[in-house]
Amino acid sequence: MSHSQVKTFPLSMRIFHWGMAALLLSLILAGLSMVQSLQPWQVTILALHKAFGVVALIAVILRLINRLRQPVPALPADLPAWQKLAARGSHVLLYAAMIAMPVSGYLMQSAAGRAVDVFGLFTLPPLMSANLAWYGVFRELHGWLAYALVVLILVHIAAALQHGLVRKDGVLKSMWK
Ligand code: HEM
Repeated sequence: MSHSQVKTFPLSMRIFHWGMAALLLSLILAGLSMVQSLQPWQVTILALHKAFGVVALIAVILRLINRLRQPVPALPADLPAWQKLAARGSHVLLYAAMIAMPVSGYLMQSAAGRAVDVFGLFTLPPLMSANLAWYGVFRELHGWLAYALVVLILVHIAAALQHGLVRKDGVLKSMWK
C-alpha cells in the first residue's frame, strides 16, 4: 500500500504512541520528583523508574521496527515545505531522545557499578567498572536529555493542536482513530 492510501496510523502504532506517551510522562515526573526530595519512598520510586526505564528502551526498539515495516499517512499536500521538514526533523529527534534517555540512565548506573533489576524478572549487568567521573558525565547527560525531551514533547503537542484546532486537516485524528 502506498503512503497516500492510508488515512490513519495502524492500530499497533497508535497503541505504541499513546502507551509510550503515558510511560514517558510517568518516567519524567518520577525522575523530577526523585531529584527534588529525599523522602523515604523515593527509594521505591527510583527502583520503579529504572525498571520502567528499561521497559521504555525495549518498547522504543519494538516501536521503531514496527514503524519501519508499515505505511503511514502522508502529511497534507498543502502543508508548507518548512512545516513538513519540521515535522520529520522533530519526529527523528523524538526517537533519538527516546533511545538516548534510557541508554544514558543505564550507562549512569553502569558507571556507578550497579546492575539494574527489572521487576525481579531479569538484571542488566553494569557495562563497566565503577568510575565516578563517568558517573557524573552520564548523570548530567541524563538530566539535560530529559529537558530536551520535555521541550520536544511540548513542541510536538503544540503542532498536534495546530493541526487539530487551526488547520483541521485530519493529522491529529490520524493518531486518534
Ligand atoms: C525513557 C526513559 C527515561 C526517562 C524519560 C527518564 C527521565 C528522568 C528524569 C526527568 C530525571 C530527572 C533528571 C534531573 O532533573 O536531573 C531522571 C533521573 C534519573 N534517572 Fe531516568 N529516565 C529514563 C530512564 C532511566 C533508566 C533506564 C535508568 C537506569 C537504569 C534511569 C536512572 C535514573 C537515575 C538514577 C536518576 C537520578 C539521577 C540523579 O541522581 O540526579 N533512568 N530520569
